[in-house]
Amino acid sequence: MGLASATLPGGTWTLGDLTVTRFGYGAMQLAGPGVMGPPADRDGALAVFREVVERGITHIDTSDAYGPHITNELIRAALHPYPDALHIATKVGAYRDERGGWPPARDPESLRHQVHQNLKHLDVDVLDVVYLRLGNAAGPQPGSVAEAFETLVELQQQGLIRHLGLSNATPEQVAEARSIGPIVAVQNLYNLAYRHDDTLIDALAQQGIAYVPFFPLGGFTPLQHSALSTVAARLGAPPLSVALAWLLHRSPNILPIPGTKSIAHLRENIAGAGLTLSADDLAELDAIGSPGAAATEHRVP
Ligand SMILES: NC(=O)c1ccc[n+]([C@@H]2O[C@H](COP(=O)([O-])OP(=O)(O)OC[C@H]3O[C@@H](n4cnc5c(N)ncnc54)[C@H](OP(=O)(O)O)[C@@H]3O)[C@@H](O)[C@H]2O)c1
Repeated sequence: MGLASATLPGGTWTLGDLTVTRFGYGAMQLAGPGVMGPPADRDGALAVFREVVERGITHIDTSDAYGPHITNELIRAALHPYPDALHIATKVGAYRDERGGWPPARDPESLRHQVHQNLKHLDVDVLDVVYLRLGNAAGPQPGSVAEAFETLVELQQQGLIRHLGLSNATPEQVAEARSIGPIVAVQNLYNLAYRHDDTLIDALAQQGIAYVPFFPLGGFTPLQHSALSTVAARLGAPPLSVALAWLLHRSPNILPIPGTKSIAHLRENIAGAGLTLSADDLAELDAIGSPGAAATEHRVP
């Protein structure tokens, strides 16, 4: 498996010592409704994961909180033993309550437990990339990450984690974590219409650190905007393809992880993300999320 990475739009990026396709896949949508429980169509979900790898994508984003445990178990069922080229990034720092909430779980004991649970559910000896998920449903929140990040560094030193990242983090938390140990990626909410991290993205690019935008297509309510529709109509392309192409144009350290339950959408996204955007297209698209443009509100699950 893993046939066509050379043809994927955006080429590759290196997370530490792991080369991945910039065009990745986010697994969250393959759990059940509200990211709780199993999907209605388990065979369909397994087929999506197999298609992801068949298409040459080598970066899958997951979390044991999805389901909980559901997407990791689906990934294992669909893809284990994993191709050497495939790299799976997961997250720790939250669990799921019975109402589908995402309460934080960042004390050292919880983090150790979550890392071991991810190892078990993915059936690997070492996790490729582990993000410390911070903040809450409203987005990043200020506060020290030292105790939690030091715990993950210890687990990394024990050989259980290759590389670390931060998710839903402020720039100050990124700086604090980097003073404790290296990170290879930051995963925050970002897309054509929601661009709070523009400065952070440029700073990370200078430092060789990846920026993985979650909700690259707008999340549970995919992006809709008249300027996006206008550019898409001019190019004869689906609007979400234009949104993905814009992300790949935005900065070389951006690694989108669009999610979908649909093989047809997956294929459409791969085909469309390679669109060439002219200077005029980019200017119109840039205006959507620039300061002063109407804000698009998203909730972080
Ligand atoms: N770190 C965090 O706190 C955090 C938070 C949220 C998400 N994430 C990660 O980010 C990943 C991506 O986020 P996401 O999957 O929620 O949102 P997304 O990628 O922005 O959008 C997914 C939505 O777009 C739709 N879609 C995809 N391709 C489409 C197409 N070609 N045409 C029409 N609709 C299309 C999907 O519906 P269909 O299924 O019908 O295609 C789905 O509803 C997640 O999988 C997860 O790994 C991380």
